[in-house]
Amino acid sequence: MGLGLRVWWNRCALRFGGKCSLAHGAYVDAMVRLGHHCQLRTGTRVTGPVTTEDHVVFCEHSVVSGTVDIGRMTWLGVGSVIVNATGPQTRISVGRYCSFGPHVVIFGNTHRLDLAATGFIVEAEANFSWPDCRGPTVIGHDVWVGAHAFIAAGTTIGHGAVIGANAVVTKDVAPYTIVGGVPARILGHRCGDAERSRLLESEWWNWSPAELKMNGEFFTRPLNDARGRRSPSGGQP
Ligand SMILES: CC(C)(COP(=O)(O)OP(=O)(O)OC[C@H]1O[C@@H](n2cnc3c(N)ncnc32)[C@H](O)[C@@H]1OP(=O)(O)O)[C@@H](O)C(=O)NCCC(=O)NCCS
Repeated sequence: MGLGLRVWWNRCALRFGGKCSLAHGAYVDAMVRLGHHCQLRTGTRVTGPVTTEDHVVFCEHSVVSGTVDIGRMTWLGVGSVIVNATGPQTRISVGRYCSFGPHVVIFGNTHRLDLAATGFIVEAEANFSWPDCRGPTVIGHDVWVGAHAFIAAGTTIGHGAVIGANAVVTKDVAPYTIVGGVPARILGHRCGDAERSRLLESEWWNWSPAELKMNGEFFTRPLNDARGRRSPSGGQP
């Protein structure tokens, strides 16, 4: 291996865990830190201080940028966009074992509505001011986000929650709650309170791969009170 190639290889090795795959046309800049076995499929673009744990899949044409942390085994659907255009105060964190459908959009900040211009560029040319920062945006573990959902800056989505296709989520969503619509409202719950407590206490998303394998029954048994999960429509998240 020539010196130049070796230097390049060492830099990549420091930034990427083992066995990551970058498809043709995938782009990763120098600030990104990936865990082991991550997949960046065709047309993916990952830039800025993005960090991931192991086995994260960036499907085709997904874009992740800024201070964003993504947990183990999380799947970002085709064309999904997670962008944090400001600093760490608007950090976006996505938990472990999350599944994002295609074209999910999360921005860590929003445009200012209380100034003469809404655009960042005009603000920069006149007298720069920060975009509207609403604090961290937090997606818990085991969250399923349906196709084309939009999650607003500064919201927290609890562990195990489900976001319906095309939802616009503007408020926090409690753990194991199913929401949908524009703006998103409660459609139901994945399980009752007792089951929810049992799942939250288990913190199974922190189990090691060996523990996950040993606990197959935990994942294949339907949730006890899943049948009674529906709640009247129209509730607030
Ligand atoms: C939200 C979702 C998980 C609910 O699934 P479900 O519990 O099987 O829902 P049901 O089909 O039994 O519908 C239950 C109610 O929720 C409503 N509903 C279902 N999905 C909805 C959505 N995305 N937005 C708004 N309302 C929705 C239904 O109209 C129904 O209302 P009703 O009780 O007044 O008749 C599912 O509809 C969904 O959006 N899944 C995402 C699919 C996706 O995007 N896949 C991409 C690949 S990962």
